[in-house]
Amino acid sequence: MAPKTHIIRDVHDADHDDVCAIVTAAFGQDDETALVERLWAAGAITIERLAEIDGKIVGYCAFSPITCTPKLDGVLLGLAPVAVAPAHQRTGLGAAMIEDGLKACREAGARLIAVLGDPKYYARFGFEPGAVKKIRWAVQDAGDAFRVIVDDENPIDDMNTNEPRLIHYHPAFDALS
Ligand SMILES: CC(C)(COP(=O)(O)OP(=O)(O)OC[C@H]1O[C@@H](n2cnc3c(N)ncnc32)[C@H](O)[C@@H]1OP(=O)(O)O)[C@@H](O)C(=O)NCCC(=O)NCCS
Repeated sequence: MAPKTHIIRDVHDADHDDVCAIVTAAFGQDDETALVERLWAAGAITIERLAEIDGKIVGYCAFSPITCTPKLDGVLLGLAPVAVAPAHQRTGLGAAMIEDGLKACREAGARLIAVLGDPKYYARFGFEPGAVKKIRWAVQDAGDAFRVIVDDENPIDDMNTNEPRLIHYHPAFDALS
């Protein structure tokens, strides 16, 4: 369970420096921080959340637009990165941010939400293997690590081929691939 005093909220420009510090601390490198800065600069974050304890930012996650080939209409989002300050990891903050972010994605009418990461961690939020929905990351076959949530009310079943749909993250991600 997350600490009782935590707050999950939207991100403001004034939070950016603290968010960058948390992302760098969580990953132990600057690559994901640079990614977030590129996404902010491109105006390419649809939904983002931070975790705060006693006024101090300790976690961050972002959802940005993804595209699909063959084309898929609707709101399509990718979750990345997710970062929690090392001292606060495994206390439920990552889960709290992701769940709140997913709720906002659904409210925004998201048809598809994708993530690349530890299968066990993301399965708990309802992400299922992309292969189940015939959806694959365009860069490489990431196997079980590439997962999706598809809106049940707007199923993706209009493909007449065995070829998977390919997911492309925002160009800001290119430097990470
Ligand atoms: C991955 C991360 C975001 C998870 O956030 P968190 O707040 O620590 O995780 P939560 O408290 O919500 O969930 C804890 C659970 O996740 C599991 N977990 C935490 N980090 C994990 C990881 N890197 N891989 C697999 N499982 C992980 C724990 O085993 C724990 O499960 P349990 O309670 O059943 O043992 C956080 O550990 C982090 O910032 N890691 C470094 C950056 C990173 O790797 N980000 C993810 C890639 S985008």
